Amino acid sequence: MSRVMSTFFQPDLLTGKVAFVTGGGSGIGRAIVQRFLEHGADVVIASRNLARLEQAAAELSAATGRRCLAVQADVREPEQIEAAVDRALAELGRIDILVNNAAGNFLAPAAALSYKGFATVHAIDTLGTFNVSKAVFARWLQRNGGVIINISATLQYTGTPFQVHAGSAKAAVDAMTRHLAVEWGAARIRVNAIAPGPIDDTEGMKRLAPGDLKDKLARQIPLGRFGRADEIAQTALFLASDAASYVTGAIFVVDGGAWLTGQRLDM
Ligand code: NAP
Ligand code: COA
Repeated sequence: MSRVMSTFFQPDLLTGKVAFVTGGGSGIGRAIVQRFLEHGADVVIASRNLARLEQAAAELSAATGRRCLAVQADVREPEQIEAAVDRALAELGRIDILVNNAAGNFLAPAAALSYKGFATVHAIDTLGTFNVSKAVFARWLQRNGGVIINISATLQYTGTPFQVHAGSAKAAVDAMTRHLAVEWGAARIRVNAIAPGPIDDTEGMKRLAPGDLKDKLARQIPLGRFGRADEIAQTALFLASDAASYVTGAIFVVDGGAWLTGQRLDM
């Protein structure tokens, strides 16, 4: 997982840059962090589970020779986020790239979902994305420009069953991507989103496609397979780099064509 992999991009693509990645200690976030480190960036990873973050940071630093700093913070708590951003700036001096990847999800029929269950997912995905964007904007991006990448989803495109909480939260993230791209363009900030399809070996897939649902789902994907976390990381690398210098307000679907077939989790 943490070995240096071959790359399609110049290895110095992000040299001199610092990234702040929420939920960077696991799954898709971790794959993005690894690619950023391999391409010369230093990276701060922030989430709730400090032990897991520190282990990931140690492994990724050892594999890439770059600095990876673990900072504990809950994206629902603005004060914790502000403290984490202050620490990142104190230790690494800048934040050029923000990846809002932290999220929470589970399968639940709307009728059985508690009020708190709905609110919790919105608090992590939607409010969390706003909280971190605002804190990094005020402390660095407003004066220096940079890049924000929101990790969204495709659930909201079709009204996926048992996903009213996550789908509506990610729809808000998509809207926020466009609003902030417009408002912050003048500050030389590009704001884009990536909408992953089903990505193998991730917590998200374990929760949303348990058991034989997974095989049924795979058969509906035009490219005939699940995605790999590194395929999301490659897209993030492109969007973070100057190769995407005129791309803002865009939502990149990286799903093997899955949502076009109306993938259904309740088959
Ligand atoms: P994951 O490994 O569970 O990643 C979620 C991360 O968010 C974890 O590292 C978690 O770390 C962090 N997190 C959760 N709540 C948090 C909070 N309140 N404050 C700070 N950090 C928090 O799952 P994943 O599957 O890789 O998902 C990553 C992203 O991809 C999510 O945005 C998800 O919606 C999106 N996505 C995934 C798939 C898929 O197939 N996997 C498909 C579409 C979209 P802590 O527990 O340490 O807080
Ligand atoms: N089905 C229905 N409701 C659920 C649920 C499930 N599987 N899991 C949690 N909830 C509800 C809880 O019942 C609770 O509501 P209640 O008090 O009315 O019963 C509410 O959600 C909050 O749960 P809690 O466990 O207190 O929240 P938390 O803040 O500790 O954790 C979660 C947030 C629930 C999203 C947790 O699953 C999490 O931390 N996820 C992060 C990893 C993840 O989801 N990865 C995949 C990303 S796609």
